[in-house]
Amino acid sequence: MSPTGPEQENLADKFFCALPNRFGGHVREGEAMTTPLPPAPSCVLVIFGAAGDLTRRLLMPALYNLRRAGLLPANFAVVGIARAAKDDSVFRKEFVRCANQFGDQDFAREDVKWLSERMFYLQGDFDDPSTYAKLAPLLAQIDRSQQTAGNYLFYLATPPQAFAAIPRRLGDVGLLKERDGRWRRLIIEKPFGTDLRSAQELNRSLLAVLSECQIYRIDHYLGKETVQNIMVLRFANGMFEPLWARHYIDHVQITVAETVGVEQRGKFYDSTGALRDMVPNHLFQLLTLIAMEPPTCFDAEAVRTEKAKVLEATHMFGPNDARQNVVRGQYGAGHVDGKTVTAYRRAENVSPRSTTETYLALKLMIDNWRWAGVPFYLRTGKALAARRSEVVIQFKQAPFALFRDTPVERLTPNDMRILIQPEEGVTWRFSAKIPGPSVRMEGVTMQFNYREHFHAAPNTGYETLIYDCMQGEPTLFQRADNIEAGWRVVQPILDAWANDRSEIPIYPAGSSGPAEADVLLERDHRHWRAIRKDVGAT
Ligand code: BG6
Repeated sequence: MSPTGPEQENLADKFFCALPNRFGGHVREGEAMTTPLPPAPSCVLVIFGAAGDLTRRLLMPALYNLRRAGLLPANFAVVGIARAAKDDSVFRKEFVRCANQFGDQDFAREDVKWLSERMFYLQGDFDDPSTYAKLAPLLAQIDRSQQTAGNYLFYLATPPQAFAAIPRRLGDVGLLKERDGRWRRLIIEKPFGTDLRSAQELNRSLLAVLSECQIYRIDHYLGKETVQNIMVLRFANGMFEPLWARHYIDHVQITVAETVGVEQRGKFYDSTGALRDMVPNHLFQLLTLIAMEPPTCFDAEAVRTEKAKVLEATHMFGPNDARQNVVRGQYGAGHVDGKTVTAYRRAENVSPRSTTETYLALKLMIDNWRWAGVPFYLRTGKALAARRSEVVIQFKQAPFALFRDTPVERLTPNDMRILIQPEEGVTWRFSAKIPGPSVRMEGVTMQFNYREHFHAAPNTGYETLIYDCMQGEPTLFQRADNIEAGWRVVQPILDAWANDRSEIPIYPAGSSGPAEADVLLERDHRHWRAIRKDVGAT
């Protein structure tokens, strides 16, 4: 018999109270969060790449939002490191200027002032030992003036070429040593390697100077509320899990469609492409959260182990499988949102003969008892018809038509759509009787909308991740084996492409991608959900 009452409550408590932060605020029906989160411990955040786009667009607004939410410690400082020559006062003024664009309606000048007073700047090259020789005494001085307790969080918001050198140099000057209760942690951005071998090498070089529990490999998809909600949806509700298996699910579609093109990132993107940029990280986060087994508890190790197991069970492609089950494409000229878009090959810093993919669709099979025989179709692309990230769980068709005049193939397929962005929520589609004397049916949709229900505060997704790292909570970060498991699935595709001289299909900007991607599903008598702006229309 399944547990009810107090027993069930204990189970939920076991899951959701095991984590101090992310799931600690266990909510019961009709109640608000029971325990407000405490501020993070005293520390200094050191940002390598302080002049970059990531710092300006995401990290600084995230710090401001954390301050507004009362989650930064009273004893706190930020050290920005970049090559440009400037002093603390210029760095602070730049932050205040950038804060004016954070888009908060009741912009809190007090919080901006509070943060700017705690900002310091260090000019330096990331590979120059003298940068680190200056950083160590600067941090010691900040510890004295701001009482930051010797706790340092190093954030690598730099080009990936600097990922291995910075920790090595930090290690050389002793800044990674944890002793007498002082912690030293490192957040490392993506892309984590460019293939399996380089990811393994990067892991080796990090682990030579840091222990695994000091390394926080970020994937900003895990900072999104709607992505975290997948675990809550699956494991805090009794009604989905019994259906969450091959007996009831026909297939799963995971889509991350963007309207933006390559913009100013031509140099990076042309040597990266959609597969490396999106699949082993963002798309595999969605895949593993959807396909993982329930962890024994919401402890970081238990969750990350279950996620790694999904990738380990994913069917490895041979060279022919890759050709059959993976479709790539590149956008040509077209129109997105009424604006003319030039072809990818004409973008700044992109080779006019580039064969880099800006679109990718693939079919994966997971060889385990839960998922054997259920295809997972994944796709992602730039310059598409609409911005839409979602997971569609398509349930199997009802086995026969009870209603004489409604052939089974005309019944609305039942599906659950997990809307990640821009709409945030969940929809369910099923058949209902059209009122009237005869029995006729129509597909109807039920919808839960995150913003309407929770009136959530503005959030870049980085707030959660930075706060969790300060708290020493690694569940939403990738362990070394998770990263390598992702690359292991992707590597055969990279290998197959390395020897493939065929033309890359071109799709018009503003379309749903190349026709070949439709064939991938049509072959299995299925079709993609349309990529449209209006979620209700698809
Ligand atoms: C980044 C990729 O990691 O994620 C970009 O490098 C992509 O190419 C971006 O545009 C998508 O993130 P989001 O949060 O807008 O879906």
